[in-house]
Parts: sequence; C-alpha cells; structure tokens
Amino acid sequence: MTIESIAPETLTRDTTVETTRDVEAERVALAERLLRSTADRAYDGDLDIDWDAPIAPDKPWATEMRGTLFGTEIYAALTDDQKLRLSRAEAVAILTYGINAEIGLCTNLLRGIFHGKDFADASTLYSLSEIAEETRHSTMFGRLINKTGMEPYRRPKALSMPLRLIGFIPHGPVVYAGTLLVEEVLDRVQRESMADETIQPHVRQLMKIHVLEEARHITFARNELADAIDRSGPVSLAINRLLCAALTLFVMPTLVDSQAYKSVGIGQLRGWWAAQRSPRYRENASFMCGPMLRYFHEAGLIKGRVTTALYRASRALPDDVLQAIRDEERGQ
Ligand SMILES: [Fe+2]
Ligand SMILES: [Fe+2]
Repeated sequence: MTIESIAPETLTRDTTVETTRDVEAERVALAERLLRSTADRAYDGDLDIDWDAPIAPDKPWATEMRGTLFGTEIYAALTDDQKLRLSRAEAVAILTYGINAEIGLCTNLLRGIFHGKDFADASTLYSLSEIAEETRHSTMFGRLINKTGMEPYRRPKALSMPLRLIGFIPHGPVVYAGTLLVEEVLDRVQRESMADETIQPHVRQLMKIHVLEEARHITFARNELADAIDRSGPVSLAINRLLCAALTLFVMPTLVDSQAYKSVGIGQLRGWWAAQRSPRYRENASFMCGPMLRYFHEAGLIKGRVTTALYRASRALPDDVLQAIRDEERGQ
C-alpha cells in the first residue's frame, strides 16, 4: 500500500454536539457504524510500511515549523545537522508519548468494558476493536523509534506513581476529555505532516495510517464525552470541568520530553524554557488544540471563572473561542 492509496475522503469525522439525543440508540448506531468502518478500512503498520526501505539521511522527522524550538534564538544558532538531529529526537519523544498515551487509553477502554453490563453489545465490540488498533499503533511507533536508531525516552521516576493512580479516576467526562487531548492534539500535527513531502517517507506513511484509524477513535470519544456530560450531576460536572482544564494546561508543555534537547547539547531546562517562551508557542498550541477546544466549548466544558482562567493560561484557545468566551462574559 502506498500513501496515495488512502483516499482523503476517509479522513472526515463527526464534529457536532447535539442537544436532544436518544442516548442509547445513538450509541449503538454509532458503534455499529464505526465497527463497519473498522472492517472496511484497517491497516497493519507491520505490513503497510516498508520497514526495509532505508531512511532518507537529509530529511527531517517532523514538519520543521512545529518543532518546539523553531523560531527561537537557540534554534537559529543550530547547524543544519543539529536541526536534523533535534527533529529526530523530538519525533522519538512524541512517539514515546504516543505509546504511553495509547497504553493509558487501552487501560481506560478495558476498564469501561470490565465495568459494563454487556460484554457483547456494539459499544463493547467497538471498544475491543479500538484496543486492537491502538496496540498495532504502538507496535508501529516502536518500529519507527527503532528505525531512528535512538532509544525511547524513559519517563522520570517521580511520574510513575501519579500515572498509576490514573486508573482510579472515576469514569466521568475527564477520562474522555483526556482521551481527546491525546488523540486530537496528535491528529492535528499528523494531518499536516503526512502531506509534507520534505519529511521522512516512513513518518508520513505512519501518520497517514494513524490519522485514518484515529478519526474513528475521536468520533467515539467525542460521543462518549457528550454522554458522560449528560450523565453528570452539577457538582460532578464542575469538578470534571476543572480537571479537564488542568489537563489541557499540562498537555502542550509535556508533549515533547525535554530530554530531546540533550541530543544537540542543549540543557533540558534551558530547552524547555526556550520552548515555553517561543514566539510561536501560542500559534502552535492553538493550532494543535484548536478543534478539540472548540468542541469542549460547544459541549459546555469551558465555563466558570477558574476553569476559563486555566484555559486562558494554556495559551491554546483559538481566537474564535476566545472571542466567544469574551462575548459570554460581557453578557453575564
Ligand atoms: Fe493510536
Ligand atoms: Fe486512538
């Protein structure tokens, strides 16, 4: 299979939030539609990427302008070879993040099935098929890391215990919002990069496969988020809104492991700080988080003084959502 053989019309997904819904019937209909789509269009990263083909030594591993240091003085001082090495290290950091995130997503899907009432309904069957796709994705990410010749980054020990506690978070809106944070943010950069002919062919093909299959996951998670919001009482919803905002605040600063900067002799803290202060930070953050935050806003998750302040502090709100929030504040 070549990159071109994946039709662009398969990249669409549902983006609407409906207000009146026959929840269970819609859930079943959506799960059945997604199951049919999974049967129609599934890929295998082991077979659908030519792993025997050599890498292109002069091509970067990601779209240059989305690099975390692009546009900073530190970046301008790097040689071309260092820029290539940094792009490879940042790609490894994001792939490592992707594997961690997919393991977490699978854990949540398995928890949902385990606590569910019916092991054979359409929603459960779709969750199982999504887990199968995620495990293939993580295999594909691991293969690409091996192709770079680098090791995946190990997470700091201090993070291990808090990450284990994620499994105890009640299955409310924040679980699905967390899923969207990972899937939609990566989706945005991958849609852009898969069309970028300047980057490594292996990376483009991997992204194309991932975007196609994740479109289903995003549709499913958006629907599950809307259902979870419907099911929540006012206190639970307020807590979940706050937790979603806190997660959003951390997603961009932690997306690329700062250990990547060491590959070109830049200290971790210095590189991370330069990335946070980059003149392109807001543009990149709002580009990557934009569609998801637009959905959060439509779904009523961006409300209340503290929650809205956290979203503003994330510097990821797109202009139209910022304007809508200002209008709402003036109307109050
Ligand atoms: Fe995935
Ligand atoms: Fe996914």
